[in-house]
Amino acid sequence: MEREAVKIAPSILSADFSRLSEQLASVEQGGADLIHVDVMDGHFVPNITFGPIIVSAVRKLTQLPLCVHLMISEPWKYAGAFCEAGADYLSFHCETAPTAERARLVEETIGAIREKNVRPGLAVNPETPLSQLFPFLELLDLVIVMSVSPGFGAQGFIADVLPKVQDLSGRRETHRFEIEVDGGVNLETAPSIAMAGATILAAGSFVFSSPDPALAVRNLRQVVGVSRNP
Ligand code: DX5
Ligand code: ZN
Repeated sequence: MEREAVKIAPSILSADFSRLSEQLASVEQGGADLIHVDVMDGHFVPNITFGPIIVSAVRKLTQLPLCVHLMISEPWKYAGAFCEAGADYLSFHCETAPTAERARLVEETIGAIREKNVRPGLAVNPETPLSQLFPFLELLDLVIVMSVSPGFGAQGFIADVLPKVQDLSGRRETHRFEIEVDGGVNLETAPSIAMAGATILAAGSFVFSSPDPALAVRNLRQVVGVSRNP
């Protein structure tokens, strides 16, 4: 069976924000499919990025769908604001929900995102078992498999997460959610991630630390071996 086209989602965490418009135009020109937008709160992860105001500014700078990745505590308090800011996909981490209330909080948050006509996703840290999100899989349009500890760009790829990607890939028969791998994606790691069954590759430093982000996107696409418009 032919593998479906893998989508490329440059992560603006590593972009030069003083010329974000130009950087977005470059990856768009290189054929990027989505823009990955990392929101960090200095609490769930040890780093801070930005909130809905910047997401709505990014929304105005590109035609591409925004895949907003919330690495924040209590995402249920802020999900609505990020939907209104222009997210197309909005993902949050199930680890942030206290175990006793997890089922209710996660389901309600997914429902609130869906109600805003935004596609809901859940993200799992490298050490978190997939079983934590299985109860919600049918409700999701996206699962983000973290292949680094969340919080920073330019970390080494954790290949131990590939069996999770394979497992998820086998569960797409009845419900076609996207599988996005996030962290350490580059020309060396992308082929094995695509082979494992990822449908979206998020790539930050590989794309934006390159002198030519458009070429970096094209090169990534080439190594995953599937053209965007076959
Ligand atoms: C990490 C973020 C990633 C990050 C990936 O916490 O979620 O999206 O931008 O950066 P690279 O591709 O440099 O590992
Ligand atoms: Zn991310």
